[in-house]
Amino acid sequence: MADLSDAHSAALPAPPSGGCVPRHVALVMDGNGRWAKQRFMPRFFGHKQGVDALVRAVDAFADRGVQYLTVFAFSSENWKRPSEEVSGLMGLVLVAVSKYLTKLAGDGVRIRIVGDRSAVSDKLRSAWEHAEEMTRENTRITLAVAFNYGGRWDILQACRKALSEGLPAQALDEAWLAQHMALSFAPDPDLFIRTGGEMRISNFLLWQAAYSELFFTDCLWPDFGPAQIDAALAAYARRDRRFGAIHPNQVVPEST
Ligand code: FPP
Repeated sequence: MADLSDAHSAALPAPPSGGCVPRHVALVMDGNGRWAKQRFMPRFFGHKQGVDALVRAVDAFADRGVQYLTVFAFSSENWKRPSEEVSGLMGLVLVAVSKYLTKLAGDGVRIRIVGDRSAVSDKLRSAWEHAEEMTRENTRITLAVAFNYGGRWDILQACRKALSEGLPAQALDEAWLAQHMALSFAPDPDLFIRTGGEMRISNFLLWQAAYSELFFTDCLWPDFGPAQIDAALAAYARRDRRFGAIHPNQVVPEST
């Protein structure tokens, strides 16, 4: 399948250097299993390579001026996978934290975990807390790891907070909900990237991605490197974001 994301703009000139860089990129890291299968390796091998690809990607996005990167590491629906794969992913996260936390912290990465922590092990929960605490003051880029996260869960948990706080219906507005959702510390994602050839959002950041520019690529996640990042950012820089409005030069002045 071809990259349909920007087929129409392939002939356009490259964006000017220093052009528009998204402040916040959301990323669905899909294709680890297929990447491993192509190499006659178990799926877990693909996930392991996926972690390494993520660490490289954080650095590359930060170098290009992206301030927030939110990645879908484990969805609310991923529990439906075979139990060996689920426990493999949980173990992999613990290994990844011990292998990469010092590097990420030293590279100026602030780590935040978003999602329902109630279902993960105490060991994983304390590893997350340690990672967040150790990187709290970092400012180069914020890496938000969505783990046991679902966009519907996020909206629902914010609504539940409103009810449990006894918020009157008239006081519940978009700003209140946004402030009580998992990514309340970040601006909405400007660019939403999904690797692995599927063209869907899969219950990721349903609320926050309302006006995100979408970029889908066939590239399998472990192969997603600086060249693919540059292609996604170049495509973004060519987009025309109007947020439901129209261009000022399309407004016909009222006749006097
Ligand atoms: C989708 O590929 C990938 C996942 C469900 C897991 C992504 C997780 C990582 C890259 C590890 C993240 C780790 C940390 C520490 C944040 P898939 O298995 O659906 O691939 P397929 O579509 O080819 O089967």
